[in-house]
Amino acid sequence: MACLFGATACHVDGNSHPIQTVKIGVATYRSDDTFIAALCDDLERLSKDKEAETGKKIILNITDGKNSQSNQNDQVDNFISQSYDVICVNMVDRTVAAVIIDKAKRADIPVIFFNREPVEEDIRMWNRAYYVGTDAKESGIMQGQIILDAVQKNPEIDKNGDGKLQYVMLEGEQAHQDSLIRTEYSVKTITATGIQMEKLANDTANWQRSLGSAKMLAWLDQFGDEIEVVLSNNDDMALGAIDALKERDMLENGPVVVGVDGTMSALEAIQNGEMLGSVVNDAQIQAQAMLDIACTLADGEDPQATVQRMNGQYVRAPHRIVTQENVQEEMDYLTQTE
Ligand code: BGC
Ligand code: CA
Repeated sequence: MACLFGATACHVDGNSHPIQTVKIGVATYRSDDTFIAALCDDLERLSKDKEAETGKKIILNITDGKNSQSNQNDQVDNFISQSYDVICVNMVDRTVAAVIIDKAKRADIPVIFFNREPVEEDIRMWNRAYYVGTDAKESGIMQGQIILDAVQKNPEIDKNGDGKLQYVMLEGEQAHQDSLIRTEYSVKTITATGIQMEKLANDTANWQRSLGSAKMLAWLDQFGDEIEVVLSNNDDMALGAIDALKERDMLENGPVVVGVDGTMSALEAIQNGEMLGSVVNDAQIQAQAMLDIACTLADGEDPQATVQRMNGQYVRAPHRIVTQENVQEEMDYLTQTE
């Protein structure tokens, strides 16, 4: 039996035709991150659709960097030594992407970075390096917009009526592009309309629900019901803030809480009125783009010509606002299986 494709695994279909195998290595920064876990689930599910559509066999090997760059470098080395067709990397430390690009280039294995964005100079090092993510600025602007719309409908959000919004800011990892940019643009979008914001406190909770809750408990003890708005760089930390409000029995008439991601738990909290809104960080679009780029490359073709939303070496998924008004739609979208 002749194996026409690739040097590695060779499968045959029912008529003994060789089936091309595409081996995709996916190195996550940590697999217990809610957003990353959702994206990996989407990769698994959408790769089945991709197999059906292309007739290729897709092997996905997803590793957990456990928040250590040296672990992740070893995992990438393994993918390279096992001649994977494409390597996808969710950098632990996005400032050292050049190391990965160097290795991949030497092995001539294209690399798709996702979610944690390398600097542009690094992506430009090689025309077979790509980035799939979002435009962080857009998510910050939309988060601010949620607050603006809510204040217009319900001026009582300014609980003490002093004409300013007293807020706390829960930030993601300090080195993550999304943290800094969401923080900046959420506030700017609100103040640009003339509404004054007064920051009571800000701190990082590293994207995590439990840390978000711990920070919020401390702030509630310090500021009591002075807090009118909780801006959170992601949904998990926003849910942590809600956990804290519940624990202190301050959810009712408490501050409005907004996040980013549109995770299922956040959508549920929006539906039941605990959370004001979120900005959908569309994991399905990002997973689809990664698979599309990977399979196009495996065919020796240029993704620029065929992959949706590809702009040079970049794909950026658009965000959407989600509030109680459209939450059902977003829930349906998240649970769709075709
Ligand atoms: C998401 C966070 C996630 C982080 C991981 C961000 O884009 O909004 O929820 O923890 O990526 O890198
Ligand atoms: Ca106020």
